[in-house]
Amino acid sequence: MKGKFITFEGADGGGKSTQVQLAAEWLRKQGYDVITTREPGGTVLAEKVRELVLDPALPLNTTSQSLLYLAARSEHVEKVIRPALDAGKVVLCDRFSDSTLVYQGLSLGKELAELTVLRQLCSFATAGLEPDLTLVLDGRPEELAKRRELRGVTDRYEQQGLDFQHRLRDGFLTLAKAEPARIKVLNAEGSMEEVAEAVQKALDNLLQEAE
Ligand code: TMP
Repeated sequence: MKGKFITFEGADGGGKSTQVQLAAEWLRKQGYDVITTREPGGTVLAEKVRELVLDPALPLNTTSQSLLYLAARSEHVEKVIRPALDAGKVVLCDRFSDSTLVYQGLSLGKELAELTVLRQLCSFATAGLEPDLTLVLDGRPEELAKRRELRGVTDRYEQQGLDFQHRLRDGFLTLAKAEPARIKVLNAEGSMEEVAEAVQKALDNLLQEAE
């Protein structure tokens, strides 16, 4: 059996990493072989890229950022994601190509139609791999900001303020509108349990279809 590739996306503060872990536990209880991973990350090189690219003190233009994310992604796909899918596993990944299209494209004022080259580069980096399902954890930036403040994290992007968070949100919603079969938008403003339940429902739909 070929595995399933599921990505979690959204602006910061939507609780993605918690939901990835909860979803993994839930799937394992049902007998699925699951791995969890994240971007940028998942391999030694990709974790190094993560340190570089998220460092607010390091000046990097948008093109360099994109290319670093894509280099990390290429390694991640070849060494971690593809082998797991070939072994029939369910792969849950915190961010993937949609983050590049939003953070390095739509949130900077570009239209979807202007992102043809960036899309092609994403496809080059992933050797054409696309998620079977993408869950966007969506919420009002003002609400999600409260959680970010609790976490106290400030990477390159989290320092950019509420306006930027609005543009990120709009970017993910634009992608979801363009690809409604793959991308599902879930309300991330609820409690952790409520969001987990919505995630489980979406996963269930995908996995039932596959059986
Ligand atoms: P996170 O682990 O909190 O999601 O942090 C990863 C950060 O990297 C997040 O702010 C989004 C950013 N990012 C991009 O800008 N482009 C990308 O392609 C990816 C994967 C992440």
